[in-house]
Amino acid sequence: MAKDFVTMEDSNRSANPSIHDMSDPRRRVFVQGGLAALVGGVMAPWLAGCATVGTSGPLIGFKGIPTTNSDTLVVPDGYLAEAIAPWGEPVGIAGAMPAWAPDASNSAADQALQMGMHHDGIHFYPLEGSASRGLLVMNHEYVDDGLLHTDGLKTWTPEKVRKSQNAHGVAVIEVALVNGRWQMVRPSRYARRFTAHTPFTLGGAAAGHAMMKTAADPTGRTVLGTINNCASGMTPWGTYLSGEENFAYYFAGGDKPDTHQRRWGLRKDALFRWPEHDERFDATRHPNEFNRFGWVVEIDPMDPASTPVKRTALGRAAHEGAWVAVTKDGRAVVYSGEDARFEYIYKFVSRDRIAPGGAKANHGLLDHGVLYVARFDADGSGRWLPLVQGQGPLAAADGFADQGEVVIKSRQASDALGATKMDRPEWLAIDQKSGEVYCTLTNNSSRGTPNFPGPDAANPRANNTMGSIIRWKDDGDFDGTSFRWSHLVLAGDPANERAEARGNVKGDIFGCPDGLMLDARGVLWIQTDAAAAQMYKGEFKNIGNNQMLACDRTTGEIRRFLTGPVNCEITGATLTPDGTTMFINIQHPGETPSERSDPDDPSRFSKWPDYQPGGRPRSATVVIRKRDGGAIGT
Ligand code: FEO
Ligand code: CA
Ligand code: CA
Repeated sequence: MAKDFVTMEDSNRSANPSIHDMSDPRRRVFVQGGLAALVGGVMAPWLAGCATVGTSGPLIGFKGIPTTNSDTLVVPDGYLAEAIAPWGEPVGIAGAMPAWAPDASNSAADQALQMGMHHDGIHFYPLEGSASRGLLVMNHEYVDDGLLHTDGLKTWTPEKVRKSQNAHGVAVIEVALVNGRWQMVRPSRYARRFTAHTPFTLGGAAAGHAMMKTAADPTGRTVLGTINNCASGMTPWGTYLSGEENFAYYFAGGDKPDTHQRRWGLRKDALFRWPEHDERFDATRHPNEFNRFGWVVEIDPMDPASTPVKRTALGRAAHEGAWVAVTKDGRAVVYSGEDARFEYIYKFVSRDRIAPGGAKANHGLLDHGVLYVARFDADGSGRWLPLVQGQGPLAAADGFADQGEVVIKSRQASDALGATKMDRPEWLAIDQKSGEVYCTLTNNSSRGTPNFPGPDAANPRANNTMGSIIRWKDDGDFDGTSFRWSHLVLAGDPANERAEARGNVKGDIFGCPDGLMLDARGVLWIQTDAAAAQMYKGEFKNIGNNQMLACDRTTGEIRRFLTGPVNCEITGATLTPDGTTMFINIQHPGETPSERSDPDDPSRFSKWPDYQPGGRPRSATVVIRKRDGGAIGT
């Protein structure tokens, strides 16, 4: 979600650090050279099945492509790209496969059986170890109500609210490589949709907490739905993690949201007008419903009958997503960031070891452990500060009566601990072997402006329009409570007049890094999400459509691999176990600067992927293959 700069949340008015000295930020940046010594290896151990992925030759073998402003999707010579599973396609539930209506006249009930809007995080799960048949699990982050309904927002009804809710959430689809082309398998016993109405159970310290109880759920243990699901991570035990990002946009807070609600971005009116016809999202009537979103959800795609769970021990946040590392003794460490201006980076260390036996054997693993928030210090070191009730300022007298209250109010707890206010942490990628963790800090144009925090060592640029990628390595193992950090790269264009917008990219220019994926060969794939409102002009004049790039971390080179259609965001990336097929998502092609399309001219900016007269642009998955059948990126 690109987030336009008028509505974007920035709720952090806490007085915590300004402690970061404004040291020379250049000292913190060393993409070029020196990195090879830090990056000892590149294979994620739970990707051991990737042993067949080619490793000979240069790490990046394709010829980089130029920037473009055209309404097409472009990949390098020697590659093929094809869109599948766009918004509105039936997911493949037997006996319930309503066809896509190009005029957006599908009903709310149809939409609950179809691909949602605004595809985001995605992961491929092989079936029976196959590289040619598997499940794709993906998020549908949010909707453009101008496109979703035939007449857009000209009228607003309970049916439209329901359709909007059903276009959110997560989809599970089956795909197979047949005669050289990937296609959806329909019907499939695995096909499934999770929407804003699907029951989720709660796990962890907030389950059953007084702040989670509502009139409809007096136990505080079952929540209807997941919303604004952004990035995704896969667990070593085979489940899918998805972050509930901008949940505050769905609730109406009335004239006087309280201090807690304001800290979580609740405003008078909802951006997505659900409260007008669904009182559950009216926080003046159901204030605790608001607390039941902002969690990492865990889904077992292999069991179509499984109940998804919100894992509250990982903390409440406008989570971009969650990514899992494994300590040497087998415990899970979950890193996550909160994509909002001046919010935080977290990690959770499980109490127990990962058990053999897959999803069922590890069902409660993420419910017990210690949650930490990051403080980046100016000398290149950092600390993981424990969010544990009773420790330091997290006492009952300070508003943290128990651990449930700590995780529900993790922003306030992090404020109290003096965590570092970051420039919108989005995706993370973990090098399980070297211990390095990478995180995109997509941008923050408020940094250094009046009434907002100034630059610090970790967020070194005022009016940070371009974003950066920061990395760290925990001392000892992934459960270490201290770390060393540096920047991998500051994004930008050296042609820019303003020094803070030039960056230090060695290779192809880009701005607003968002998606990240570290493949089994060691290529760090970077995806961008500049907002339609900022593209093609000013500091973004030369950068063109959003794009995907490959970074060779041993040389520091970054090379452009893919450009998307007009005003889309590139997000989500996953590979088959043999590395020969990559799936990515194209989100909101043709997005308008206001993020609400004109239903009378829905394809004003983009006609991708159908290019049909009278049609509508549609988010979709893109399948990328090499013509010679080789590994992607070689
Ligand atoms: Fe959903 Fe922060 O992008
Ligand atoms: Ca983004
Ligand atoms: Ca994102």
